[in-house]
Amino acid sequence: MRAHEAGALHADLGSRGPAWLRTPADVNALVPQLWPRTVHRGRDGALSVGGLRVVDLAREFGTPVYLLDEHDFRSRCREFRDAFRGADVCYAGKAFLAKAIVRIVAAEGLGLDVCTGGELAAALAAGMPPERIGLHGNNKSAAELARALDVGVGRIIVDSFDEITRLTALARSQGVRPRVLVRVTVGVEAHTHEYIATAHEDQKFGFSLAGGAAAAAVARILAEDVLELRGLHSHIGSQIFDTAAFELSARRVLGLAAAIREAHGVPPQELDLGGGFGIAYTTQDDPTSPADLAASLAKIVEQESAALRLPVPRLTIEPGRAIVGPAMFTLYEVGTVKDVDGIRTYVSVDGGMSDNIRTALYDANYSATVASRASDAPAALARVVGRHCEAGDIVVKDEFLPGDVRPGDLLAVPGTGAYCRSMASNYNHVPRPPVVAVRDGQARVIVRRETEEDLLALDVG
Ligand code: LLP
Repeated sequence: MRAHEAGALHADLGSRGPAWLRTPADVNALVPQLWPRTVHRGRDGALSVGGLRVVDLAREFGTPVYLLDEHDFRSRCREFRDAFRGADVCYAGKAFLAKAIVRIVAAEGLGLDVCTGGELAAALAAGMPPERIGLHGNNKSAAELARALDVGVGRIIVDSFDEITRLTALARSQGVRPRVLVRVTVGVEAHTHEYIATAHEDQKFGFSLAGGAAAAAVARILAEDVLELRGLHSHIGSQIFDTAAFELSARRVLGLAAAIREAHGVPPQELDLGGGFGIAYTTQDDPTSPADLAASLAKIVEQESAALRLPVPRLTIEPGRAIVGPAMFTLYEVGTVKDVDGIRTYVSVDGGMSDNIRTALYDANYSATVASRASDAPAALARVVGRHCEAGDIVVKDEFLPGDVRPGDLLAVPGTGAYCRSMASNYNHVPRPPVVAVRDGQARVIVRRETEEDLLALDVG
């Protein structure tokens, strides 16, 4: 059995599965779509990334550590940029933001999508040109909006009537005319976890298309001379594989654009279709390439615009996960191994839900491999768990690991670039791991490890 077939068994088998399904060779093999592009297993059995052995990286930087394959990250930026020529690609900073990341994204020609004053501050501190920044959020504070106006962010994606009132007053008092997009809730039920689906009606984001709020928001903005309506925005959710869902959302937003032209005589010039493009966490996931995404979105926008006799709007997309997710993996050290007879092996690592909350929060699936050596031992079904004081502290629900996995082994979990460090916590007073970028045999810390002093620094009582 090949490794990817064995991986596909995760769901079928639920939490159990006969260990003979995976041979030692399968367990040592790396499925390319799950790993950053420079990762491979060397002759000594250990993984390397960017030309450096993870064993050496663990010795130098400690564990747990997030390792960023900078070549991989840059190449994914470029793939989106090249595939979406003539469109704007804004990296969604919420997936993972650090000053070094902003600099790379800017250098690779992308814009940046931020959704809080903190993300905006990081973007500006790293030198992202303000006109390439889009500011999102369903509850932007007056201070956040004022700062955005002050620095001249490129787009403000307006999310509520209260925000229109707030933004109008601020723009007037600051003497500026911001460019805005209206966030439209298009009613597309994308096939993803409920908490990360954002275009169905019953949720907090955006103006409803079906209920008429989106058209009303457009009318209000057009009536305010201090706001410049540039276009419409839709984001239907995250970790979506179904290109048809993006196509449907594009079609619906363009329908609104045609209605706006009818009502006000001016068609919106821009169409932002948000992010949400899915990546492979296990061998069961089959992501669409940026080139295929670009082709299908461009086609639908062109066809639909022609059918509605609209000028083709300028397209923007906001991928976060699809750029940074596969570019990083987490390296842990195994601390304890416990066999629960006939059920599974619990492999405890030195991190857990504080560095990857996604398994606990979204029931997300990950995979794992022993990274410090290859093994000839028969495979066994394992659960990778963390060190937190909580039974739900699971990093990888089910994975076949070598039956001889033991304390001191390094374990690597791929696909942790998006929404892991950015959603990390200090639960149980565990310091958050560093992010180390590796490229061409060089490693540099881009986010340092937290210390106990950091943890106590805010504690002033
Ligand atoms: N644009 C907007 C307006 C968004 O709200 C988001 C994500 C993105 C772009 C980027 O989506 P991406 O391409 O990364 O899927 N914490 C969850 C994901 C929350 C996504 C929130 N918005 C997770 O870990 O799966």
